[in-house]
Amino acid sequence: MRLVLYTGKGGVGKTTTAAATAVCAARRGRRTLVASADAAHSLGDVFERRLGPAPVTLASGLDAVEIDARVEVRRYWGRIESFLVEFFRHQGIEPVVAEELALLPGAEEVTALLAVEEFAVSGGYDLIVLDCAPTDATLRLVTLPDVAQKSLRVLLPLVRMLAGVTAPIARRLVEVPLPDARVFGDVDELVNRQLRPLAERLTDRQTSVRLVVTPERMVIDESRRAWTELALFDVGCDAIVLNRVLPPEAGREDFFRDWMRVQEDRRREVEALFAPHPVLCAPMRSDEVTGLERLATHGEALFAGVEPEAVLSTAPRVVFRRDGDAYLAVVPLPGADPAQLEVAKVEDELTITTGLRRRSLKLPRRMASLVLEAARLDGTSLKVRLRRAGTT
Ligand SMILES: Nc1ncnc2c1ncn2[C@@H]1O[C@H](COP(=O)(O)OP(=O)(O)O)[C@@H](O)[C@H]1O
Ligand SMILES: [Mg+2]
Repeated sequence: MRLVLYTGKGGVGKTTTAAATAVCAARRGRRTLVASADAAHSLGDVFERRLGPAPVTLASGLDAVEIDARVEVRRYWGRIESFLVEFFRHQGIEPVVAEELALLPGAEEVTALLAVEEFAVSGGYDLIVLDCAPTDATLRLVTLPDVAQKSLRVLLPLVRMLAGVTAPIARRLVEVPLPDARVFGDVDELVNRQLRPLAERLTDRQTSVRLVVTPERMVIDESRRAWTELALFDVGCDAIVLNRVLPPEAGREDFFRDWMRVQEDRRREVEALFAPHPVLCAPMRSDEVTGLERLATHGEALFAGVEPEAVLSTAPRVVFRRDGDAYLAVVPLPGADPAQLEVAKVEDELTITTGLRRRSLKLPRRMASLVLEAARLDGTSLKVRLRRAGTT
């Protein structure tokens, strides 16, 4: 099963591109589901149909859904959340703040993804196209399975210990609210049966993110940041979609001729910045792109000559290898800003921070006891050298 996620700055054409991709793939015989995970749904508007949380068939081989993340949060997170609220409140935290804390950041996004996972394992689709929220929320979406897995893994033994065989005594001694047994079951279920497969799905080679940009500097900059952070979490990007490119006929007007020159510069910039990913261009239309026919035309122009569901390029992965007496970890970090980069080794993990986002990489066992010697950006990868303590 192939999963393609579209993200980018607000208004650049994510929903339009996702819908056009799905229409084209379905017309080529792929059983396709297009799903909206953006709380501000507009997939229904693009198809000119009312959509909801259950798939609606729009054409042969083409289904669409709008996932209601809030309902999903209650479904997947409900009992854990009520326990956490109780727990935080007991620590003297204001109820309103406790509720905020219990809503792990990104919980809405990740639960939308859990709903997608259900469709993925159902076996009913060859391709799922996900129309994501703007970049920040999408980054939370792809990074949360990893982060949530870690925090819940810490929480679980702690809660277990408190509620151990001595529960009645412990209850009196520590006077903390103890969750009932179902909460353990829920946390276990969430971590082991849901978040783990989700993290695996996101880093699978059959999953790709496509960044949608317009030929504008601010839009391109935001996507570059997203690109680095996706690489940090080992989520592959396979193509860039450059939307709203002025068509040749616009050059008949002086006003647009200048714009076309600027756009041409931006296009070359995008190609250079995101190499080796292909840049697919979609023209600016004279009207909004809605309805199956217009979406199909738009998709054909975008995917001229390539299969919409193909893996259009592959990103390099994290590599660990021996380097003389030392070891090397090579982490692809395209577009990373050296000034924003921090690398540290904490126990058996390598912690890489780019700007606000941090990823911990578990080191292979034979590298776990080494010490950090040097880290440097080399082209599009970060090279970290580790050596045995006491050697130089
Ligand atoms: N290539 C295009 N030409 C003309 N209008 C477009 C194009 N791409 C998107 N639009 C229009 O721009 C608006 C925003 O597009 P949308 O796909 O909803 O963006 P996003 O999902 O990124 O917020 C919509 O009205 C859409 O019809
Ligand atoms: Mg949208």
